[in-house]
Amino acid sequence: MYLHGSSRINPNGHLEIGGIDSIDLTAEYGTPLYVYDIGLIRERASSFKSAFDKAKVKAKVAYASKAFSSIAMIQLMQEEGLYLDIVSAGELFTALAAGFPAERIHFHGNNKSQDEIKLALEHGVGCIVIDNFHEIELLDLICRDLGIKTKILLRVTPGVNAYTHKYMTTGQIDSKFGFDLLNGQADEAIQLVTESASFEMSGFHYHLGSQIVDITRFVLAVDEIFKYIKKWKDHYSYVPQVLNLGGGFGIRYTDQDNPLTPEIYVEKIIEKVKEKVSELMIDIPEIWIEPGRSLVGEAGTTLYTVGSQKVVPSIRTYLAVDGGMSDNLRPSLYQAKHEAALANKMTETPDRIVTVAGKCCESGDTLIWDVPLPDPQAGDLLAVFCTGAYGYSMANNYNRLPRPAVVFVEDGEAQLVVKRETYEHILQLDLPYNTKASK
Ligand SMILES: Cc1ncc(COP(=O)(O)O)c(C=O)c1O
Repeated sequence: MYLHGSSRINPNGHLEIGGIDSIDLTAEYGTPLYVYDIGLIRERASSFKSAFDKAKVKAKVAYASKAFSSIAMIQLMQEEGLYLDIVSAGELFTALAAGFPAERIHFHGNNKSQDEIKLALEHGVGCIVIDNFHEIELLDLICRDLGIKTKILLRVTPGVNAYTHKYMTTGQIDSKFGFDLLNGQADEAIQLVTESASFEMSGFHYHLGSQIVDITRFVLAVDEIFKYIKKWKDHYSYVPQVLNLGGGFGIRYTDQDNPLTPEIYVEKIIEKVKEKVSELMIDIPEIWIEPGRSLVGEAGTTLYTVGSQKVVPSIRTYLAVDGGMSDNLRPSLYQAKHEAALANKMTETPDRIVTVAGKCCESGDTLIWDVPLPDPQAGDLLAVFCTGAYGYSMANNYNRLPRPAVVFVEDGEAQLVVKRETYEHILQLDLPYNTKASK
């Protein structure tokens, strides 16, 4: 079992995060509970930023808020001096409620609505990342209507396979995102946006996918985009001021994952960018990245209370917890793997392999297929590690389960940052049906 960040085993033999015993955390806030190790998030944010400083490259590091968007998390990212990537008006609304400066926000998405675009422009969002031809037209019309010019990037699809889960790869040709580089769509798009008075065309964006640990993928994508940068320089005399290389930097979920550090990811990518700009004899564009998972994924731990067990003789033992696919969809959606431990029995030696099941009515509601644990009993506390990214943000009310609470822990202090949902919250949008009999 690998402990991330400030997590450690305390003298009571319990899991401690951010200087607080997990037993005390759950006694106060209940289970399931998301716990974020804030020190680890700060460390990651500063590693990404200092890697660019070290390379002496002008850069913007934006937090991909889809990984976990809440007022407190966005305020933390602002405190760390990051920019923000959003993909919907809901994420924008959250950022604005957090007091995040609109000009530091970059708006992505493959189907932004007219209302979402208007809202973003009215609030002065810093950059719109255009994804498709429909959006060029829509944004052009809205800008003309508002009498403004907006900064844009064009999202392109570099045709690079990220070698990650099929549902987490976005940079390949058969993708719903972006203008294809190979089939000429990107050429057409660049002509349209550079001719329009509505846009200040700052440069290009791509995102290869998520949980990528193979650095060659990132490096190859730089090679690919620079083939086109050369072409656009030669044909249209266009040289980008900004190159947004997306997020996707992989993290360590289990001992099968061998991620690089933020410093190394950045160093290797920048090495290639520098080589390419010197070949083309152009100034290095400002480099933007937008990590989500690598900023918050390893910092999150979910604490559950163990409940029932079902032994299927000679096959497996199912150990059920008081959450599941309602608070962590990733294992069901992507067959994602996590490690876990009994937070109240950290010094006991695991003596069996069990399958951790959720409490939702789906056989696919399995959090971990095989995890070694020491004699798990009802009432024990199960800690599932690395749930900080795409956990709460994909949480749902399947089976009308209330979503968990979220706490931040740092230097021995805990702060509730998202309240636990109640049954009243679950009912709050429901309206009674006027039955025929009552009319
Ligand atoms: C455009 C874009 N940027 C950034 C990210 C963040 O990816 P990650 O959390 O893997 O860093 C995503 C994730 O889906 C994305 O689609």
